[in-house]
Amino acid sequence: MKRLKIKEVLAGGQTGQQVLVKGWVRTKRGSKNVNFIALNDGSTINNLQIVADVEKFGENFLKDINTSTSLAVTGDLVESQGSGQSVELNATEIKIYGKADPEKYPIQPKKHSLEFLRENAHLRFRTATFSAIFRIRHAMAFAIHNYFNSKGFVYLHTPIITGSDAEGAGQMFRVSTLPAVDPPMTEEGEIDHAQDFFGRPTNLTVSGQLEGELGATALGEIYTFGPTFRAENSNTTRHLAEFWMIEPEMAFYELKDNMDLAEEFLKYLIKYALDNCMDDLKFLSNRLQQEEKNKPADQRSMELIEKLEFVLANDFVRCTYTEAIDILTNSKPYKKGKFQFPVEWGVDLQSEHERYLVEKHFKKPVILTDYPKDIKAFYMKQNEDGKTVAAMDVLFPQIGEIIGGSEREADYDKLVSRMNEMDVPVEEMWWYLDTRRYGSVPHAGFGLGFERFILFVTGMGNIRDVIAFPRTPKNAEF
Ligand code: 4AD
Ligand code: MG
Repeated sequence: MKRLKIKEVLAGGQTGQQVLVKGWVRTKRGSKNVNFIALNDGSTINNLQIVADVEKFGENFLKDINTSTSLAVTGDLVESQGSGQSVELNATEIKIYGKADPEKYPIQPKKHSLEFLRENAHLRFRTATFSAIFRIRHAMAFAIHNYFNSKGFVYLHTPIITGSDAEGAGQMFRVSTLPAVDPPMTEEGEIDHAQDFFGRPTNLTVSGQLEGELGATALGEIYTFGPTFRAENSNTTRHLAEFWMIEPEMAFYELKDNMDLAEEFLKYLIKYALDNCMDDLKFLSNRLQQEEKNKPADQRSMELIEKLEFVLANDFVRCTYTEAIDILTNSKPYKKGKFQFPVEWGVDLQSEHERYLVEKHFKKPVILTDYPKDIKAFYMKQNEDGKTVAAMDVLFPQIGEIIGGSEREADYDKLVSRMNEMDVPVEEMWWYLDTRRYGSVPHAGFGLGFERFILFVTGMGNIRDVIAFPRTPKNAEF
């Protein structure tokens, strides 16, 4: 008999027939005559109730069926007598694939803290919460490809190992095969990278943008979607050392086109989640409400599905950095000295400022533009005022910055002089500058932090809980 996925079985089309399912036990309840086994195979948040007759299978056999025991069950699918499910499976045959000793199996059917589950990240997929998160993460990855494919963007695979620092922030993990102890040295007393694997210093990429620009200025519109690495020592709920980024890059786009694309893209993904992941979203909404039920009402988050619908229904606010500084310096928390970090024209906005703008002032997602050039990367288009660049950051409630992007400096001379000012190695970047030497065009792009976006969609509070195996300072287990 062909095995069916539980998602399919629960849809009810096979009622009255024999079916075969396979999965892991979530819970088992027993009475003298029957055992009720909740079986899950990862295809849906919902479990299939297996009804096992004690006399038929024997107490001895059934006692080996515990949380996380893996089973194949054949049975008759019938309409359920009990409440809570529409169909159930009257087992005629049960095969145990692997037992799970209830004395040792760490994830018992009770409430575990997210911290505990993080330490058991190898098993946390077996909980309802994490299975929901990872199904949604998958759906969003799929939707991203769908979106760009339907718009004619080319998916470009940019390198993971590179010699350049795209953001110029120096937060790179070195890649080398030289011995860690006594590496070969040059006469000048420096590590001799000429003898290294690539014959030069290399690092893990912090962004695929620079190579993305090479693609976009020939293919028109490209996007990357891959892992990126930042050796920044930020131990926050929003930073990872290894995270996934989506970076579209478009020829002939100016800043406004870039903003329009970012807004349309985010809304497409949110709509896709609402249209395709409702069971999981409802579960996560409930989880969030449980988690926050002891908080005062004004500190609770908006209900998850309502929040997603709210973002869909409203235009993002567009506001310049300079306007934002005005709003912040006129705000109550500023006047009462409640902000931890300073606010004045020229400073980089901290998450407390971004969240004030989004959650308290505008109460909507915000696109901030035209930042001071000194707090942004070398490649951004310089505005006529000589002080700002055509940058844009998309700020979301609870998250802060979810997207960073800009129109790019397309003028060769202006770009080179900015690179010199910012100590970016001009000669080494000859290949990047060739895009400005030969047929340069206005172009723009942005980067969406995939995990930050998944945080938003799932309502989770810690970025470590939306990537399978988080890499953060002092942590690379699994
Ligand atoms: O603002 P960032 O640094 O921009 C770039 O890398 C540009 N090259 C993008 C582009 O224009 N093509 O990073 C983009 C986004 C941020 O808005 C944030 O969502 C996410 O990447 N991000 C991180 N996410 C998790 N952990 C980190 N350490 C992150 N750093 C950035
Ligand atoms: Mg940024």
